[in-house]
Amino acid sequence: MNKEESHKMMKKPFLSVSSSVVALVLVLYLYLCFVPICVFAVSADSYSSSSSSTAKQHLQFGENGEFKILQVADMHYADGKTTPCVDLLPTQFASCSDLNTTAFVHRMILAEKPHLIVFTGDNIFGFDATDAVTSLNAAFAPAVSSNIPWAAVLGNHDQESTLSREGVMKHIVGIKNTFSQFNPDNAHFIDGFGNYNLEVRGVEGSSFHNKSILNLYFLDSGDYSTVPSIPGYGWIKPSQQLWFQRTSAKLRRAYMSKPDTEKGSAPGLVYFHIPLPEFASFDSSNFTGVKQEGISSASVNSGFFTTMVEAGDVKAVFTGHDHVNDFCGELTGIKLCYAGGFGYHAYGKAGWARRARVVVATLEKTEKGGWGTVKSIKTWKRLDDQRLTAIDGQVLWSKSSSCKLLLYESNLVTF
Ligand SMILES: *[C@@H]1O[C@H](CO)[C@@H](O)[C@H](O)[C@H]1NC(C)=O
Ligand SMILES: *[C@@H]1O[C@H](CO)[C@@H](O)[C@H](O)[C@H]1NC(C)=O
Ligand SMILES: *[C@@H]1O[C@H](CO)[C@@H](O)[C@H](O)[C@H]1NC(C)=O
Repeated sequence: MNKEESHKMMKKPFLSVSSSVVALVLVLYLYLCFVPICVFAVSADSYSSSSSSTAKQHLQFGENGEFKILQVADMHYADGKTTPCVDLLPTQFASCSDLNTTAFVHRMILAEKPHLIVFTGDNIFGFDATDAVTSLNAAFAPAVSSNIPWAAVLGNHDQESTLSREGVMKHIVGIKNTFSQFNPDNAHFIDGFGNYNLEVRGVEGSSFHNKSILNLYFLDSGDYSTVPSIPGYGWIKPSQQLWFQRTSAKLRRAYMSKPDTEKGSAPGLVYFHIPLPEFASFDSSNFTGVKQEGISSASVNSGFFTTMVEAGDVKAVFTGHDHVNDFCGELTGIKLCYAGGFGYHAYGKAGWARRARVVVATLEKTEKGGWGTVKSIKTWKRLDDQRLTAIDGQVLWSKSSSCKLLLYESNLVTF
């Protein structure tokens, strides 16, 4: 129910006194719940102090009760300093190359100190990369040298250099500090390369230190259709959706199991490259960000959106692919978000800054004062300008019981 509907409810003449009171309480409750979502402001200097260790292990919330993810979409890396930039203002071309993309990754890492960096495909622009291995290593180098865990999926351009899609993913999983996986061990057959999930456990020392309380899914959304009668881009296949369904159900059982049995599922976030057809469900009246080009999804709908709605745990989906779209809209309880183009050798729009998306999940405090499960998930973007300006802060999801806490927090920030 939205605010307009709740106002209508208040005006209904046939309500008895007691149901009016109920309605008023409901209206107040909704107000408390949704107002903070509108006034949430990005605290540009906030960062988390603790970072997960670099060893190949599970991910974990920081001591400050946060888990922060930096999304880097469409780096389109090629040969480094000899590769020119595209779509800039006339004065900007001379001093610009792939090295500007590298510098932007470094700056984002320093500014946000994320717990995980996710590269959502078209990491390299294969056609212009002389050697895929050299190009991939250079593209991920800032993440590797930061010692922060990172994960990557494939786009539609990663295989256009000297390696196949399989070869690119095989190379990625061998690079230092990566949490990327080639494919799940237990899936007998799965389409694509780089379908996997990562568990994020609660704070060390809290009662959730050994339980996944935030689930991350990564999928290969393919490159191009191989079916002659279907033109255009690839899609997420039934084999991948079956793996997702089984994984989501397994994680749900684990979340509900002892100790500290929880109701339902831990929130899930999904990362892949090509947007779903459902990204076309919005206009500027119901998304945050901008839409400056069409939605380049597959020309068929393979049903992954419905599969996610049915699974019930997914709160948000993050893609790239359309560089000059950077919005987030909500459909049937799931936020569908673009990151906006990051790389300088990727098409963009002159005068419209390259950008990145940040997502932070925040835990609630338990009655005993320890860290509990996820209370809210927020997002914002940063522009590659002098001050790395943060824009479009919004709440992606919040636990309904934590409305008051959220209001309290936003009071601190806003008033
Ligand atoms: C690219 O990097 C160079 C060297 O730091 C800098 O002078 C230039 O302004 C950057 N270009 C853009 C478009 O950010
Ligand atoms: C953590 O959980 C796993 C199973 O999910 C269990 O095997 C292990 O003993 C647990 N470790 C601790 C320290 O509780
Ligand atoms: C967004 O608003 C438009 C009308 O402006 C409407 O057609 C569309 O269904 C809305 N989308 C969602 C997901 O609510």
